[in-house]
Amino acid sequence: MRRVLILGGTAEARALAASLASRPGLHVVSSLAGRVSNPRLPVGEVREGGFGGAEGLAAFLTEERIDALVDATHPFASRMTASAAAASAATGVPLLVLRRPGWQESDGDAWQRVNSLHDAAALLATGAWRTPALAAPATIADREAAAPTRVFLTTGRRSLPLFTGLPGVWLLARSVDPPEPPIPPNVHILLARGPYTPEGERTLIRRHHLNVLITKDSGGDLTSAKLTAARDLALPVIMVNRPPLPPGVHLVDTVAAATSWAAEPQG
Ligand SMILES: NC(=O)c1ccc[n+]([C@@H]2O[C@H](COP(=O)([O-])OP(=O)(O)OC[C@H]3O[C@@H](n4cnc5c(N)ncnc54)[C@H](OP(=O)(O)O)[C@@H]3O)[C@@H](O)[C@H]2O)c1
Repeated sequence: MRRVLILGGTAEARALAASLASRPGLHVVSSLAGRVSNPRLPVGEVREGGFGGAEGLAAFLTEERIDALVDATHPFASRMTASAAAASAATGVPLLVLRRPGWQESDGDAWQRVNSLHDAAALLATGAWRTPALAAPATIADREAAAPTRVFLTTGRRSLPLFTGLPGVWLLARSVDPPEPPIPPNVHILLARGPYTPEGERTLIRRHHLNVLITKDSGGDLTSAKLTAARDLALPVIMVNRPPLPPGVHLVDTVAAATSWAAEPQG
């Protein structure tokens, strides 16, 4: 039996587990962080909870006699990906990283890309998201005269504290599970899990008079409707770029490619 460990928590990881499930000669274990209260479960064997860093993962790979490791975690799960690369190097268990492609800006979009959630919060604080070309010379008076900042925030519940406490900023924060209390009065929490539709996203943006969207470049179809709606409504978008991958990792961007790799012994 060839034993494959999938680091999951994404639609791609579930699709990979499903696609490998029926293959003879394979035993697949999916791993979840155990953070979401009611996770969508992949088919087959599932384990939950952290490994205890790269060393813990290396020990798991050895004890469980894992032959191949697929990191199919979310593009922003950078600690898990770093652990996977280090554990693979330490044990010699081959690693494949499966990442869905990032989103691409197209005609009609008004995106500003930033490299971190901190940079997104800074852009919000300065008001520079309003008119990128003219933002630098804008005076405080100009900013105060502008419409209030009403943010559609979809960067995850743990990032919320970075964006609260900014004067003149109201937030609609959408997340799967509730953020830690206390929730400041200028924050409205919307608990929801995709997929979403452009029509639903347009309705949400209009109902709450939102004038900027802040999102991570997660990629994929499940949550891209907000970007279609933003384009339709000429809503500016602050797009947080993905963290870089560890150097030298073997990367694929389709479940089909990951299926072929995981099903065949690596030479
Ligand atoms: N970040 C996002 O925006 C996002 C969005 C959707 C889904 N997810 C999923 O949610 C999980 C946690 O994301 P995160 O951003 O908190 O990741 P992270 O910051 O990279 O991971 C933090 C720690 O959580 C544990 N962990 C993460 N993924 C795991 C997995 N699949 N199996 C076992 N342990 C795991 C590891 O603990 P140890 O060091 O103890 O091993 C890791 O060091 C990931 O599986 C990811 O695919 C994340």
